[in-house]
Amino acid sequence: MASMNRRRFVGTSAAALGVAGLRLPVWAQIANGGTSAAFPTLLGVDYYPDQTPESLWEEDARRISESGLTNVRIAEFAWALMEPAQGKFDFAWLQRSVDILHRNNIGVILGTPSAAPPPWLSAKYPEILEVNEKGEKLHPGGRRFTCPTNATYRRLSLIIATEMAKMFAAHPGVIGWQIDNEFTLGSSGRCYCDYCRAGFQNWLRTKYRSLDLVNQTWGTNFWSQHYSDWAQIPVPLPSGGDPNPGLALDYDRYQSYANASFLEEQLAMLRKLCPKHFVTTNNIGIPYDVIDMRELYAKVDFVAFDNYPGFFEMLLREQGQSGSQLSQAVSGMTAMQHDFGRSILRKPFLIMEEQSGKAGQRTFSPQPAKGQVRLWSYQAIAHGAMGINYFRWDTATSGAEEYWHGMLNHDRSKSPAFDEILQTVNELKALGPEFLNSQYQADVALYFDYDCSWAVKIQPGHYKLSYADQVTAWYGAASPSHTGIDLIGPGSDLSLYRIVFAPVVYVLSEAQAEKIRQYVRAGGIFVTNFRLGVKTESSQIIKRPLPGYLADVMGVTVEDYVPIYADNPHLKFGSMLGSADLECGIWTDILKPSTAEVLANYSSGQHSGKAAITANTFGKGKAVYIGADLRPPDLSRVLGTFTASVGVKPPFEVPLGVELTMRRSGNKRWICLLNHTGGAQTINLPGTFKDAVSGESHSGATELPGYGVMVLTT
Ligand code: GLA
Ligand code: ZN
Repeated sequence: MASMNRRRFVGTSAAALGVAGLRLPVWAQIANGGTSAAFPTLLGVDYYPDQTPESLWEEDARRISESGLTNVRIAEFAWALMEPAQGKFDFAWLQRSVDILHRNNIGVILGTPSAAPPPWLSAKYPEILEVNEKGEKLHPGGRRFTCPTNATYRRLSLIIATEMAKMFAAHPGVIGWQIDNEFTLGSSGRCYCDYCRAGFQNWLRTKYRSLDLVNQTWGTNFWSQHYSDWAQIPVPLPSGGDPNPGLALDYDRYQSYANASFLEEQLAMLRKLCPKHFVTTNNIGIPYDVIDMRELYAKVDFVAFDNYPGFFEMLLREQGQSGSQLSQAVSGMTAMQHDFGRSILRKPFLIMEEQSGKAGQRTFSPQPAKGQVRLWSYQAIAHGAMGINYFRWDTATSGAEEYWHGMLNHDRSKSPAFDEILQTVNELKALGPEFLNSQYQADVALYFDYDCSWAVKIQPGHYKLSYADQVTAWYGAASPSHTGIDLIGPGSDLSLYRIVFAPVVYVLSEAQAEKIRQYVRAGGIFVTNFRLGVKTESSQIIKRPLPGYLADVMGVTVEDYVPIYADNPHLKFGSMLGSADLECGIWTDILKPSTAEVLANYSSGQHSGKAAITANTFGKGKAVYIGADLRPPDLSRVLGTFTASVGVKPPFEVPLGVELTMRRSGNKRWICLLNHTGGAQTINLPGTFKDAVSGESHSGATELPGYGVMVLTT
């Protein structure tokens, strides 16, 4: 019953939280959760009492509270302090810290500490250490050096989390849990140890039931790989040749399952012991593909992830990017991670860690410009976040993250963005829970499938072909239309969308093809590109003419597929796209229409004159095949044309570098404008709008300052 309450409470859409409710501290709102309709506002900070002298805890709590912050997240790396020796627990310090925070009306999210086991544990049980893809064992001394399968590590992780839960289940200051920390972060991503090998073999037994079926599915007669015992099945470690692609894809799925089931052990325990608390986990935001995040988050209350746009910028600069292209890449990647996070459970998410200053381990990211931390916060909210925790309160003076700046400097003075963060927090509170819990409606979907991502990594087909890059490029090409994009996967309901963009659907099951068929038949627009339907879900090459299961829907067959290394062919559009002549990138599928109409032909090279882009009317809908890899501006034009053709458009146009998103609740809508450029931009508003932050009215030409933000209501 209690868990029913929590779920209803967390899941319900926004209706007004009573005025009295708004004044309650977050812990009291959570405690009263069964009756509230909107999720309590979480505008907090990540805090490390374990790294702070106890003499400062009271002052910290007072300052956090006076700053208007509602909550902290603590303890996710404090295993060694909570269990200084095996089975010897010490929660007294944490209890004192939580008491102080609670007295100051600060809600507490507790992190379970499995991401960094203490030295006594790895010394006593070295078998918990991860083995990377080269077969090298990781060493203790950092974090995330563990094997997700190892039973000892799982058992000890569950024990410490259970002891924490028992200790804090009834503490009124505790509001929720973060399980572990960033499962997706790791130097190697996946573990290849003997425990994982045994775990993989067991997982295969459950999946296939018969060894014959495994042999048949993977085609193990190739290179004499026939298995006569489950225990012979290897993991993809270096072996003098590439692994069997079917085995390799199953191994990626197994590793995802191992992490998700690791999380689920702690989740089941927390559900039982702490039925009033919410439970989530955090991750690197971008759909970084070592773990299927849809699997990982499937059973938590809401999605949470970490947001470091300045850190992205540093990484892109290291790769040689600069100028306005760089700034668009950073804001685009960040927008995509927010859209992905929101789409996983189709509801508002929490930013568990938000960059609040220069960030980095060995080098600093650029200093956020004035206004940029506020802009990043609003960007998350604009894409559907319901709350934000800033990372972190103070800045560490020891440890690997001394360079990762928090809200306080090393000397505990206010950091450059301190006041800006407070301003943002106050503004977001004033915008209110109805806005923060409102929904985000997208008419456009972008298909992101982990199987495709993993299988393309196993066999890219072209050394430059990356599934993540293709999806990111398609997101970048589609997003300037400001129509709202959900990132969907094989389990998603396609009928919610007017148009579905689906690049490089390399792995396609017959069932998924049927879903796409039904979608198009009923009137949907499905736009895809090369390498469509090449493999079944078992990573077997389809034994039909490409595009395999979708040949009827696309109205074409693929006459040949051609990786491009030099002499990039050109293609020429017919009237639809103004007879433009474009150069192709790394791939061309040569299309032979059966029922499809040709929109563009190759205009040079061996296949000159053959179809490059086609559109097929199928049932009430349309299926578009873009056979050639298009350069970003061309892709943008093509995708934009299809989006416009179905009448999906933003409420009004905005200049390049400005983002527009919309959130809704009932009849209310909030239009968020975000200026990602340093200079002022003029927006031409079609009518009069109210600025929900300043309360002013705007109409016609309206200036949005550099890194400025506006939330408009009508
Ligand atoms: C991640 C982690 C944190 C911390 C920050 C900054 O997102 O979750 O523990 O390491 O980055 O590095
Ligand atoms: Zn392992």
